[in-house]
Amino acid sequence: MDEVILRGSSVPVLDRHVRPWRDLRISVMDRCNFRCPYCMPDSTYHAGFRFLAPRERLDFDEIVRVARVAAEMGVTKLRLTGGEPLLRPGLADLVARLVRIPGIDDVALTTNGVLLARMVPALHAAGLHRVTVSLDSLDEVVFARLSGGRAELAAVLEGIETARAADFSGGVKINAVIQRGVNDSGVPALLARYRHTGVVVRFIEYMDVGNRNGWERAHVVNSRELLERIEAIWPLERLSPHYRGEVARRYRYRDGGGEIGFISSVTAPFCGDCSRARLSSDGRIYTCLFATTGTELRALLRDARHAADDGPLREALSQIWRQRTDRYSEERAERRAGAAASPDTRQGDKIEMHYIGG
Ligand code: GTP
Ligand code: 5AD
Ligand code: SF4
Ligand code: SF4
Repeated sequence: MDEVILRGSSVPVLDRHVRPWRDLRISVMDRCNFRCPYCMPDSTYHAGFRFLAPRERLDFDEIVRVARVAAEMGVTKLRLTGGEPLLRPGLADLVARLVRIPGIDDVALTTNGVLLARMVPALHAAGLHRVTVSLDSLDEVVFARLSGGRAELAAVLEGIETARAADFSGGVKINAVIQRGVNDSGVPALLARYRHTGVVVRFIEYMDVGNRNGWERAHVVNSRELLERIEAIWPLERLSPHYRGEVARRYRYRDGGGEIGFISSVTAPFCGDCSRARLSSDGRIYTCLFATTGTELRALLRDARHAADDGPLREALSQIWRQRTDRYSEERAERRAGAAASPDTRQGDKIEMHYIGG
């Protein structure tokens, strides 16, 4: 049966929980020009921190090859992440190649936005479908704190406006990670600014990704609570999901102000339909955002014996997906609910967010 599947038939490769692989998130750069305390605290990511050397990162040929084989296996959606993907030289050239892969119908970018304004023309010309900008606060002081004091809020806002004006076919979104007592009071201001603009603002529950952010449950603002706080100002109406397993719960303002969303991986996990894999910039595949180990593909990609033959890569990817059992967020919720059946048996540290993207 694998022969049929691997040649790109409509029979999908399924994981152990019968989930197909649809989405590949590609980290093109482990470095970032921000130092968000919840992701790359300055104390760890100082001048002496050893990031990957350029030759350790997959080159564009290697990335395109993985994406092409993934598309043959059923992946339709690609997202470029980092660290900060716009730090990767020539990123628009990569976009231009990815959008042309047969079967890929959605190529998105997640960025902190600070370099976006100057990059928009090239990205748009390359055929990028959509852009998501991470922006946690419109307050200068809070923004400075949440970005590690590395950037001007004005540059990010200009990036968002430039992207909006460019009219990307899939539009522009903003992702805001909300932490209690840190930026939750700024939620109405963020919404007010982007109502009636077509920009979709989405609120992410603060997650226990990585090992260095000192995550505590008390910092999480439950999406349900946030929804109630927003509804007290602007009544909302639930929208049906765009696709099965959609990460964000979508709502629209009843007064026609547009759409917003909630990503509630802590209080309402969505592992059941999770069809995402992540490729790190040095060529490891991770089948969960909270994985402790990934599968190394770079040696295979650089093996001259397989230069003209995608077979071994296809077989490796197929094996990885077929063995996948990940459902971390659901297990976390089950542990909290006291279900002894879901002890955290994983060994070792979780991967860091800047290394794998969001
Ligand atoms: P759209 O296709 O635009 O809806 O984007 P998306 O659903 O791929 O979401 P996006 O890439 O904007 O992700 C937003 C945030 O959701 C990420 O930064 C993560 O914090 C969280 N997130 C995305 N995918 C996953 C996932 O598979 N598991 C968990 N736990 N969180 C995720
Ligand atoms: N919890 C939730 N989202 C996070 N991000 C980074 N760290 C966390 C966390 N601990 C988000 C960023 C960005 C995306 C890449 O991931 O804010 O929107
Ligand atoms: Fe902040 Fe994103 Fe950079 Fe992490 S990768 S430090 S979340 S901008
Ligand atoms: Fe997918 Fe892992 Fe996120 Fe669950 S926790 S939705 S399995 S990436």
